[in-house]
Amino acid sequence: MYIIITIWIILVYPYTTVHAQCNITLNTLEDKEADCKHQGFTSVPTNLPPDLKILDLSYNRLTRLGDNSFHRYKYLEQLILDNNIMNFLDAKAFTGLSLLRRLSMVKNQLNVFTSYPPGVFESLQNLSALDVSRNMKTPEYNPYRIPVGELCNLCELSIDLVLNATFGQQFRKLHNLRKLRFDYCHVDILYNETFSDMPVNINEFHMTTCKHFVVIEVGVLVPFPHLKVLNLTNSNIHLTQALRIVQPFQNKSMDAILFRGITHGNIKHDLDAVVLTQDMMKYISTICITTLDFSDNQIISVKNNSIVSFKHPQCFEHIMVSSNSFSLETWAVNLFLFVFRMTNIKMFDFSYFPLRFKNPVFLDIVTKNNHTTIERLEYKGRLEIQDITVTVPNQMQFVRIAHVMGRNGFREIKVINSSLRQLEVSYFETDVFPIITLEGFNSLELLDLSGISSDITIGAGKIPLLIHLKTLIMKETKLYLVLQTNSSILSLCPNIKNLDISYHYIWKKNLIGQLPHLTTLNLSYNLFDDVPDVVKKFDNLTDLDLSHNQLTTIRKNIQNWIDTQHTKFRTVKLYLSNNPLIRSCDTTTFLRWILTTKVKFNENVNYSCWVSSIKKSTIPEI
Ligand SMILES: *[C@@H]1O[C@H](CO)[C@@H](O)[C@H](O)[C@H]1NC(C)=O
Ligand SMILES: *[C@@H]1O[C@H](CO)[C@@H](O)[C@H](O)[C@H]1NC(C)=O
Ligand SMILES: *[C@@H]1O[C@H](CO)[C@@H](O)[C@H](O)[C@H]1NC(C)=O
Ligand SMILES: *[C@@H]1O[C@H](CO)[C@@H](O)[C@H](O)[C@H]1NC(C)=O
Ligand SMILES: *[C@@H]1O[C@H](CO)[C@@H](O)[C@H](O)[C@H]1NC(C)=O
Ligand SMILES: *[C@@H]1O[C@H](CO)[C@@H](O)[C@H](O)[C@H]1NC(C)=O
Ligand SMILES: *[C@@H]1O[C@H](CO)[C@@H](O)[C@H](O)[C@H]1NC(C)=O
Repeated sequence: MYIIITIWIILVYPYTTVHAQCNITLNTLEDKEADCKHQGFTSVPTNLPPDLKILDLSYNRLTRLGDNSFHRYKYLEQLILDNNIMNFLDAKAFTGLSLLRRLSMVKNQLNVFTSYPPGVFESLQNLSALDVSRNMKTPEYNPYRIPVGELCNLCELSIDLVLNATFGQQFRKLHNLRKLRFDYCHVDILYNETFSDMPVNINEFHMTTCKHFVVIEVGVLVPFPHLKVLNLTNSNIHLTQALRIVQPFQNKSMDAILFRGITHGNIKHDLDAVVLTQDMMKYISTICITTLDFSDNQIISVKNNSIVSFKHPQCFEHIMVSSNSFSLETWAVNLFLFVFRMTNIKMFDFSYFPLRFKNPVFLDIVTKNNHTTIERLEYKGRLEIQDITVTVPNQMQFVRIAHVMGRNGFREIKVINSSLRQLEVSYFETDVFPIITLEGFNSLELLDLSGISSDITIGAGKIPLLIHLKTLIMKETKLYLVLQTNSSILSLCPNIKNLDISYHYIWKKNLIGQLPHLTTLNLSYNLFDDVPDVVKKFDNLTDLDLSHNQLTTIRKNIQNWIDTQHTKFRTVKLYLSNNPLIRSCDTTTFLRWILTTKVKFNENVNYSCWVSSIKKSTIPEI
């Protein structure tokens, strides 16, 4: 007992010293870096090494940068002043920083109208990235007086978008600007002219924080003829408007059009859920797009195959349409045929579709003998298994069809000579799982079948032998149903390294057969009251997650096995949080082992117990 307490003290106290100074280190490129975060500085420290390349003064109390604040640090390439309370910069604040490449002043109180005197950026002839976003906290009209025109080499600018934004001529001088990012968005209207002062060469436009609905005129993006990335993720714009403003990019090619989560209901502007029509798709369908994100847009219906009306299917590499609620009922075949024409597609994500419950119970009003009652009537769905075989295009690498609440009518998913590496077909409301067949070579490395009862997947012979599979994820699949009758079922993926069978309420031991290559086993959220002996069969196991079980101790032979693994592999990780473990510290050998073993436990675990009558002790992470 005594030993335990002593060790506890030694382990806990060394970490409590407060260092009220900057931490100077050499980074991987041998650049000298000063980390001065959270030190309460009210002015720039003047006693740091003069050859610093990186200076981080975030989270201090700087209010104003005086003239020549940094003249000692003329080799600085990166200066980070985020999360201070600066509201003014003196005209010569940055004098001497001619090598500075990145300047960040996020989350201060700098006003684009009043805080930046002319000439303030004059010394920064090498600056390529300036981030002054998240400074304008309230929506007021402030013309942009920030003298960005002095930054002739600027490539990236992040700035707030103020109410009634009017930029000004100085922006035209940013001939090298490529990436424009707005963070904090106070506009409510974007006019055709709003961005007319912006330089023409911009190829990335990000506007992702407009929480209040923005009315947008059709020509707003006309000043950006060379745009390659349009990122409007999460801005309250409505898909209907977003599809209109891509008009200037018709028949061009773009790297990414990211319209995730931009549709919110709006009564004032009579905007509702989206019914996608060919007319709405008329501009975007002519663009050659590499990455398209249409996720989370309240698309409830797709008319006339409009989503498959793209004229350049060969351009697509990544398509995300998750979290909408349109049904494929009438046009599934067209969609899959279309995916087939995407000859360069690598990733397809069609998940989180709340379409229709599998077995709804309806209420009937029945009147008999002047007596009205409500009766429950279970819907006996006629599930028609259509004879549809979906063949995964050869070049596809990643497919996720997960969390689809609807009725599955497919018979077969066919993978022929394919590059498919990752297939997630999980959390499906279904009675019938399509059979997965492989022909020719395959490269499938990860299969996720979580949330679907294993008796209709692997138990029903729907999964073929998967030689290359490295990771099998089967959370919440009632695997015990299958293991009861066939404990060697997992021999159909004989080479897996990672197996996740969490959330099963499994308590029986010795249930999984031989898996000689297994390194990671996740048994969390089960009901084990003892570490199953079967783990000892996995010679290469180094990560074992047994959190959220019913373990009270770890038996001696398992302790020995764990230590052996550690001697063999140097790193062994054991996850034990949320077990009734050692709450009673009677198990002294176990406690001593916990203290002496070199095995790593997961972070933030609180192994605590009552040690006899002495006092409560906490054994920190070892
Ligand atoms: C905005 O520009 C588009 C063309 O790009 C034009 O059709 C539209 O009429 C303009 N709107 C206004 C209000 O000027
Ligand atoms: C788009 O914007 C979001 C939100 O700001 C950001 O997280 C994401 O990285 C951006 N996407 C790209 C491709 O730059
Ligand atoms: C859909 O197609 C039908 C027949 O081809 C046509 O009559 C109808 O106008 C189209 N609807 C829309 C919204 O394009
Ligand atoms: C139902 O109620 C009506 C009016 O209250 C009465 O005339 C009739 O006889 C009743 N029928 C039966 C089957 O009880
Ligand atoms: C158990 O499953 C494996 C893999 O699917 C199969 O090869 C084996 O024949 C099955 N054994 C029994 C007894 O069904
Ligand atoms: C094991 O699975 C649980 C539940 O799915 C998850 O929260 C946990 O992160 C996994 N453990 C590891 C080590 O990945
Ligand atoms: C660990 O748990 C004990 C008892 O539940 C609690 O008093 C203690 O504050 C916890 N320690 C940490 C670091 O969370």
